[in-house]
Amino acid sequence: MLSAETIEFQSIGDSRGELVALESGGNVPFAIKRVYYMTGLSPDTPRGFHAHRKLEQIAVCVAGSCRFILDNGRSRKQAWLRTPRQGLYIGNIIWREMHDFSHDCVLMVLASELYDEADYIRDYDTFRSLAAGRMSG
Ligand code: TYD
Repeated sequence: MLSAETIEFQSIGDSRGELVALESGGNVPFAIKRVYYMTGLSPDTPRGFHAHRKLEQIAVCVAGSCRFILDNGRSRKQAWLRTPRQGLYIGNIIWREMHDFSHDCVLMVLASELYDEADYIRDYDTFRSLAAGRMSG
């Protein structure tokens, strides 16, 4: 799996509505140890601005939309999440920012590890050095 990419989920839909199933080892490429979600988000208040040393995640807008900026230390790309049928896989050592949350946005994240503040890289220069070391090694 590349370090950051969009995943299309199969949706099982009928006249009653739609259902998306997420399974470790299936459409989720890691064992899920933690799930969290964010609500009450605001378009003017971006979040994120960090990377992780080890953690892998998949972000899903189960309602509403938001825009991710993903940075591997060499280039930045942008990805919109606008449907619960898409997830964004984010590997380790990827700087992420979340912007432009719609008022109805519910951003759910599946994570490969339990919460550990020591896994966070919150300083951009530290992130750049780690990413550069990884690319040259
Ligand atoms: P943080 O990951 O910094 O949020 P964001 O990147 O979206 O801006 O988390 C915000 C706060 O919540 C921070 O104090 C850590 C805490 N937190 C937990 O306690 N457990 C968790 O699983 C997560 C993701 C965050």
